[in-house]
Amino acid sequence: MKISVVGGGYVGLVTGTCFAELGHNVTIIEIDPEKVRAINNGKPPIYENGLEDLLKKNTARRLRASTGYKPVTDADIVFISVGTPPKPDGSANLAYIASASTSIGEALKNTSTYCVVVVKSTVPPGTTDKIVRPAVLLESGKTEKEIGFAMNPEFLREGRAVEDFLHPDRIVIGSSDSRAGNRVAEVYTDIRAPVLRTGLTAAEMIKYASNAFLATKISFSNEIGNICKRLGIDVYEVMQGVGPDPRIGPRFLNAGAGFGGSCFPKDVSALISLAESCGEDPQLLRSVIEVNEQQPQRMIQLLERHVPSLNGKKIAVLGLAFKDNTDDIRDSRAIPVIEALVKKGARVAAYDPMAIPSMRKLFPDIEYCVKVEDALTAAEGCLVMTEWPEFSQLDKEFDLMAQRVIIEGRRILCCDTTEGICW
Ligand code: UDX
Ligand code: UDX
Repeated sequence: MKISVVGGGYVGLVTGTCFAELGHNVTIIEIDPEKVRAINNGKPPIYENGLEDLLKKNTARRLRASTGYKPVTDADIVFISVGTPPKPDGSANLAYIASASTSIGEALKNTSTYCVVVVKSTVPPGTTDKIVRPAVLLESGKTEKEIGFAMNPEFLREGRAVEDFLHPDRIVIGSSDSRAGNRVAEVYTDIRAPVLRTGLTAAEMIKYASNAFLATKISFSNEIGNICKRLGIDVYEVMQGVGPDPRIGPRFLNAGAGFGGSCFPKDVSALISLAESCGEDPQLLRSVIEVNEQQPQRMIQLLERHVPSLNGKKIAVLGLAFKDNTDDIRDSRAIPVIEALVKKGARVAAYDPMAIPSMRKLFPDIEYCVKVEDALTAAEGCLVMTEWPEFSQLDKEFDLMAQRVIIEGRRILCCDTTEGICW
């Protein structure tokens, strides 16, 4: 099939590249000319495990990127995967979705074949029907007999997105009618996974409910962990005994500094805002966010038990990415921790295998180290913020510190004499 993917960010680039790998002819339409150039040169503008190889292989064959919407004119199917960032009140900003829909509509004005427009971005229920559909139909001057509409949420974890795309545990396809849904299903023919067909709004809600549930599991584990810490119990031992119950499941029970990333914080906030707008009081979801915001502050409180005055002290922060295997720092728990340290006058020395360039834009004035050893040398305290596997090997490096005060926000170190946030 001929596929256009609008938005070449984390989701759009992985989606487009994997569709090309499945044998489709794909054009990624991306507003940023630098990203377009990089993609066409086979160089992903972001780091994602396995993506570079697939991109190199497919840019030579079935994948290209462009800044203009012309490729939409002969597409069988168009996926929208532009960002839906949070507005100051937590609700989703749908401006990019709206402008992409208008541009797609314009491009479809003079076409003669049936095309389906699919929303892949995470959007509040009603967006595909009330914003995308009218904009595309108005601009194109066409009817729903000529253009179909669908919503196909992604469940890609950053760092493992290619694997998640090619081996999903389910494919959700919401559509306005069966013809549109069937076309989306066809694109995934070669992927073995259960396919769930729903209406448009249910598909939109499935994404929010899934992410809110996963975020709830993490905040729940953190709350249990905080209680365990008071009682001198190891929460990881506890969760090992909780997870085997199939009604609960063993994954996403890792207590620590909380969840970051482009999805959980923003999607839970958007769901809260959505609930409030329809007269609900989403107490549980609000608590999920509250617990998550407190966890980084607990790291600082623990540190201050060992280093009572942080003013002028060198503090090492290991891990800046919001999780391992990515260079993404969006809503990383390292951000509030660095903010608090800087506010208290500490000299922050930060290390991350991948995310230093992104964090430098946010905090240009702290020290960035190319080696863990440089961050640790003469530090009075160390905070571990990301579950990078390479941190598990650290031990004697901590002897470079002025004193061995190590506060773990992720259960990743194997050495002794560390203090965990929840254990
Ligand atoms: C995606 C989804 O779209 C979001 O709803 C979901 O919750 C998380 O994943 P992501 O791919 O992570 O977002 O966002 P980002 O990396 O910011 O990519 C969006 C891309 O769209 C950017 O490259 C941006 O330049 C591009 N864009 C934006 C366009 O090409 N056209 C526009 O009109 C707006
Ligand atoms: C998430 C969802 O997993 C994915 O399905 C969705 O489409 C996008 O959002 P992602 O944000 O890439 O993916 O990463 P994920 O692995 O889910 O981790 C999110 C955050 O939760 C990270 O900060 C991680 O450190 C934290 N986390 C995860 C925990 O604190 N404890 C856990 O047990 C698991």
